[in-house]
Amino acid sequence: MSESEPSMPANLYPAADEWQAVDRYFTSTLVGEDDALITARASGAETSMPNAEVSANQGAFLGLLAQMVGARRVLEFGTLAGYSTIWFARSVGEDGRVVTLELEADNAVIAETNFRTAAVADRIDTIVGPAAESVARLIDEGTEPFDLVFIDADKPSNSVYLAAALELTRSGAVIVIDNVVRNGAVADADSTDLRVQGVRQVVNDLASNPELDATALQTVGEKGWDGLIIARRR
Ligand code: DHB
Ligand code: MG
Repeated sequence: MSESEPSMPANLYPAADEWQAVDRYFTSTLVGEDDALITARASGAETSMPNAEVSANQGAFLGLLAQMVGARRVLEFGTLAGYSTIWFARSVGEDGRVVTLELEADNAVIAETNFRTAAVADRIDTIVGPAAESVARLIDEGTEPFDLVFIDADKPSNSVYLAAALELTRSGAVIVIDNVVRNGAVADADSTDLRVQGVRQVVNDLASNPELDATALQTVGEKGWDGLIIARRR
């Protein structure tokens, strides 16, 4: 979420009042955020990309997905304040591990404070630097495979991150990619927006890889109109 993109509002598409009310209804009934998550969300305002973290309902969804997969090891591209990281860390359990990659050292400091507040710091490795370099090191080191990968960093690099994810996973692994709707521009093949092209490129990669089953879900809610890709390795 934080690699060399011009700053722009994270919520590309304004959230309709009804979408916000419905998100609030489900957050307040089904999901809930404890103090640690509320603090993590609020501290997102201090990062280089304010308000880019997933909504509470989306965080709960990612956490449930990790549990459904039985994920013990999660890799995340793009930490920011660590909001989704905390959801994953809680889902992998005490013996699980989350490795999260963050470009900006200042963001990582904020995230690590949030991990301590959430009492999950001991199961999270935050690696600072360009994610492509960090992940190349993980591959070189022969890091144990991950069960779930969440790609939520600079959008032009989606393809690079997917390729790395494929080096670091095996059969059954799930790969989730955030922010794939781009205000609807994802359907425009002629878009000159590098973020749109970054999504379209990774969609091509997924579509042409016989090892991957994938779909995309559009979402509306407090973050506006957006969507996620979910893919699984055969
Ligand atoms: C953007 C990136 C994100 O990770 C996000 O959640 C919302 C927006 C962006 O690049 O615009
Ligand atoms: Mg995102």
